[in-house]
Formats: sequence, C-alpha cells, structure tokens
Amino acid sequence: DDTLNARRPRVFVARRIFPEVVAQLREHFDVSTHDTDEPLSRDELIARLQGCDGVFVAGTEPIDATLLAACPTLRAVCSMAVGYNNIDVPAATARGVVVSNAPGVLTETTADFGFALMMATARRITEAEQYLRAGHWKQWSVDGMAGADIHGSTLGILGMGRIGQAIARRGVHGFGMSLVYHNRSRLPAEDEAALGARYLDLPGLLKAADHLVIVVPYGPTSHHLIGAAELALMKPSATLINVARGGVVDDAALAQALAERRIAGAGLDVFEGEPAVHPGLLEVPNVVLTPHIASASLPTRLAMCQLAASNLRAALTGQAPPTALNP
Ligand code: DGY
Repeated sequence: DDTLNARRPRVFVARRIFPEVVAQLREHFDVSTHDTDEPLSRDELIARLQGCDGVFVAGTEPIDATLLAACPTLRAVCSMAVGYNNIDVPAATARGVVVSNAPGVLTETTADFGFALMMATARRITEAEQYLRAGHWKQWSVDGMAGADIHGSTLGILGMGRIGQAIARRGVHGFGMSLVYHNRSRLPAEDEAALGARYLDLPGLLKAADHLVIVVPYGPTSHHLIGAAELALMKPSATLINVARGGVVDDAALAQALAERRIAGAGLDVFEGEPAVHPGLLEVPNVVLTPHIASASLPTRLAMCQLAASNLRAALTGQAPPTALNP
C-alpha cells in the first residue's frame, strides 16, 4: 500500500551491523545503510541523514549540536554502545530528539574481558607468548616471566557501575581478592557488605590497589582522570587496566610510567585517539594491548544491536525506548 509505505519512517544504519538486525529493521522502516567498517565523518553523516527520522549508531559517530541542527527531520538516535560520550544528549533533548544507549546486555561479557585483561597483564601472558614465538625460550628459569598474583591481592575498581560491580564479584567470589573502590557515589551499605568493599577517595584507591581497573564513563569530568600525578601514587608492583574510554588515562604519562617501571604493567582495550595507539605504548613490553573488544563476544554484540533496534522501533512509534537517555 503506497499510502502506508509513504509513511514508513526512514532509518539510517551508520555502521555495518548484523544482516539479521537490518532485516528486522526493514520490517518496520525504510532502511538505508553504510555497509563498511570505515566510520563516516560528521559531514558524510549529515548528508546521509537528510530526510531520515532515525539513526542507528555505535560509540564512534559524532552526534553533536552541529549535526543535530543540520538534520532537522531526525527524531531518534539509537546507539548499540553503552558509552555515549559521542552523543550530545542535552543538545538532542533540546531539539526533542530521543537518544538511547545499550546498557545491561554487555555487562557480564565486558567484565569477563576486564578480568581476562587483568590476568593477562599480571601474569604477563602476551609478553611471555611473544618471547616464546621469538625463539628466546632456551631454558626454564626460576623467575623467568614471573608476575604478580591475582588471588588474595587487592582489587581496585574506579567506577562502581554495572560493569565495575560485575568485575568486583569475579574478584571477590572467584579469586578471594579484597576490594577497594572509588565512585561518584557510594554503594548502598548492604552491597558494600556483600562484597566486603571498602570505599576510598581517588588517591586512597590508587595507593591501595594491586590491580586497578578503570570502568568510569568518559566526559569532561573524567578526562585524564589518571595522569602522571595519579600514576605516581600507585604501587611500583601494581597494574592498571582500562576497559572504559582511552581519554580517561593520559596515555603519554602512562607510557612513560611503564617505560620507567614506576608501575609493573598495564592492560588497555581503549586508547585516546583510537584506532591510533600512542607510540610509547607500542614500545614497552609490560603492556597488553587489545583493539576495543571488551564487549565483543558474538552473542553480546548481537544483543547490543538488537537492543538498539528495539529502541529505534519504540522511539519512532511514539513509545518510550527501553533504555532512553533523555532526562
Ligand atoms: C560500549 O558499548 O560503550 C563499547 O565501548 C563499544 O563501543
């Protein structure tokens, strides 16, 4: 029916996503897609969004006030990421544009990865593998590739949201770690008691942690939250793990601290200016580097896309999206 077709909302999918999710969207919308992994620039995005009602994005598309002003037909911005530092939510709200992210579905998968990165860093797994592959392994050695323990050590969590708490549970219940944390607000007393969690200010956390895991959202208040002064407070035997956003850590300061062995190691899944990686980090052996894959199990990436698609359907049919971000 042409009349009905004419009224179908138009949706742009700004990233290559799973074909089955695009097919689901096509049941409800006129869908156009950007089908490669090469991100669109803001100007290209603006051009593709003309006449569109909704857009499906990831954590990489810059949805700022300029773009929103240049796309007056846009009513919904739905992201498959939990982090939404790429979206100006107040600017969208001011224009009546519904914004959603994709929390919850990636919590356990991301916590698994954060823990894996911590273990790989503490036990020097990638460094040891590179040593072996390079043919350097000639004999067993009493302290060769010896690292730090996970079990019984002190886990420090910076950012005690869903993912921080999921990592904390793994450490406390699975590995007998003691738990210290810092967050904008304290956990309820019963949650602290269940984890044996000790709340500290940021300097206190940095001094106490054997393994510090960063899981805070990125924004103006967390930009370079960890720089040279903060790294200087950490134990020389400590490791730093970042599965949040690169901008939370001053990568130049971190590369220097690693090179000078002022901390023992780092495990990084995110970088300032990624996919570029600070050259200093590529030069030091005591860092485990992964390409922003903490939520990348296949089932979880599919669930993230499906949640973003549900949000789009709700937003464009006048319902409240399950995980809207507008106040
Ligand atoms: C997220 O969901 O925020 C991940 O970092 C992927 O962008």
